[in-house]
Amino acid sequence: MHVLVLGGTGPVGILLIQELLAASHTVVVYARSPGKLPEGITTNPNVTIVKGDLMDREALGRALEGVHAVVSALGPAVGKGPLHPSGTPIAKGYAVLVELMEKHNIKRLIALGTASMKDEHDKFDLQFWVLVNGVATFAHSAYKDVVAIGETIRRSSALIYTIARVPILTNSKKKECVAGYVGDGKTKPWLTRSAFASFVVEELGRNDWIQKAPLLSVP
Ligand SMILES: NC(=O)c1ccc[n+]([C@@H]2O[C@H](COP(=O)([O-])OP(=O)(O)OC[C@H]3O[C@@H](n4cnc5c(N)ncnc54)[C@H](OP(=O)(O)O)[C@@H]3O)[C@@H](O)[C@H]2O)c1
Ligand SMILES: *[C@@H]1O[C@H](CO)[C@@H](O)[C@H](O)[C@H]1NC(C)=O
Repeated sequence: MHVLVLGGTGPVGILLIQELLAASHTVVVYARSPGKLPEGITTNPNVTIVKGDLMDREALGRALEGVHAVVSALGPAVGKGPLHPSGTPIAKGYAVLVELMEKHNIKRLIALGTASMKDEHDKFDLQFWVLVNGVATFAHSAYKDVVAIGETIRRSSALIYTIARVPILTNSKKKECVAGYVGDGKTKPWLTRSAFASFVVEELGRNDWIQKAPLLSVP
């Protein structure tokens, strides 16, 4: 498949691009700061890079040409925490993306989410409650943006989406993960970035979680 990657310049996004290439997909990376991509990606003949802002319909439309699916690791920078801008900028970017995907007749979207995007299958879990309330309290603008991203994706009637929700991310190379829901007795509040990338690339071929928002975690 020819896959558009958003959020490809963060640690999760870079692993996602590498995993897509390893599975023989071709990749378009749409990024505002493509200089952050490692040389192994920028020089790969199976990668096209388009520089642009999420609100730039012309550039994003160009990046979407010929694409079969969109995968996204976009999200508020964790390091910025409380300094994330107000006004849900990333959710507004997703609204533009959804509009352009509909226009280009591209249906499949797999997007990174978090436990802050509540799901009807979630049950109470103290560790997740502390995590989500911590983010909501100390990084309120980031929290609001994440919640709005979830609403923007779920609102679309044209998309075939999967929201792959992540807990705390770690840099271990392990790729095993379980997909479930908060408080189901299977999921824990940690996931490796590599396991996220691996799940997304497998889900692209399997379509096991259509119109669903599983919570991923270490087994
Ligand atoms: N670390 C954790 O424990 C944890 C837990 C739950 C969720 N997450 C989420 O997981 C996501 C990915 O993680 P990561 O480690 O790869 O973090 P990251 O470095 O913060 O990656 C975020 C990606 O989103 C892009 N981005 C952010 N705001 C944007 C905007 N307004 N316009 C365009 N692009 C924008 C960044 O682009 P630039 O490179 O141009 O900034 C980057 O590519 C993060 O968004 C984070 O919120 C992390
Ligand atoms: C590019 O993709 C083709 C087809 O999947 C593959 O044979 C080739 O090894 C890839 N090239 C690189 C540098 O990854």
